[in-house]
Amino acid sequence: MQNELERIQTETEGFSIEQTLQYLAEQFPNQVAFSTSFGEEDQVVTDFILKNNIPIRIFTLDTGRLFKETYDVFYKTELKYNTKIETYFPDTKQVEELMTQKGPMSFYDSVENRKECCNIRKIEPLKRALADVKVWITGLRAEQSENRHDFARFQLAPQFNCIKYNPLIEWTYDEMKTYIQQNGIPYNVLHDKGFLSIGCAPCTRAIREGEDIRAGRWWWEISKKECGLHG
Ligand code: ADX
Ligand code: SF4
Repeated sequence: MQNELERIQTETEGFSIEQTLQYLAEQFPNQVAFSTSFGEEDQVVTDFILKNNIPIRIFTLDTGRLFKETYDVFYKTELKYNTKIETYFPDTKQVEELMTQKGPMSFYDSVENRKECCNIRKIEPLKRALADVKVWITGLRAEQSENRHDFARFQLAPQFNCIKYNPLIEWTYDEMKTYIQQNGIPYNVLHDKGFLSIGCAPCTRAIREGEDIRAGRWWWEISKKECGLHG
C-alpha cells in the first residue's frame, strides 16, 4: 500500500481538489468513498464531489445518537443535490446488548465504556462501509486538534486497509466558512451556536471562547478525544 500511496502522491502533485477527486475516481472505479458526518468540512467535500458529478460513493454512519439538527442537514443535502446518501447503522444485536447491560449513558462512566460505544456505533459500521474501498476520503483539517496537526493530504489507514485522502487538510476555518457562504451550501445550524465540531448529541457540547475546536467532544474526558476513526 505504501507504494500505491507514493504513486498517488506523485501523480496528483499540484492538482486541485476537483482534479484529485476525478483522478481517484478514474484510477479506482467504485473503490473510492467519502464519509460524511454533515459537519461544515464534510459539506464542502460533498459539494466538490456532487457539483462536479464525480462518481464517488458518499456514506454516513448513523450512530443512532445524532442531533436532530444533523438530520436536518442530511435532508437538505439530499434535496439540494438530488442525491441519496448511503447510511450505515450499528449492528442491532450489539446495540441491544450494550443498552440492556449498561444503559443509555454508559459512555460517561469511563473511557473504556465510551470507546466500547464508539466501537459498536461507529467503528464496526465504518469497517463495513470501507470493506471494498481503496481510497477513503474525509473532511479532516490539521487545524482541528494537536493530534491532527501532522496529518497529511494522503496517509495510510492500515486499520481499515486503505489509503486516506484528506482534501481539506490545509484549509483554515475561515477558508471553509467562506466557501460555504459563497456557494450557498446547507450547514448544521448548531455551528452558529458554538458547536464547532459535532458528533453524537450526548457526547458533544458547545465550546466557549478561547477553547479548542474539539474541546466540546467528550468534554468530560482527559483523553486524546478520538473515537478510533482517526487515531
Ligand atoms: S471524529 O472521529 O471525532 O468523530 P470528526 O467529527 O472530527 O471525527 O470528523 C472527521 C471526519 O471523520 C469527518 O470529516 C468525516 O469524514 C468522518 N466522520 C466522523 N463522524 C462520521 C460519521 N458519523 N459518519 C461518517 N463520517 C464521519
Ligand atoms: Fe457512543 Fe458517544 Fe461514541 Fe456516539 S460519540 S458512539 S454516543 S460514545
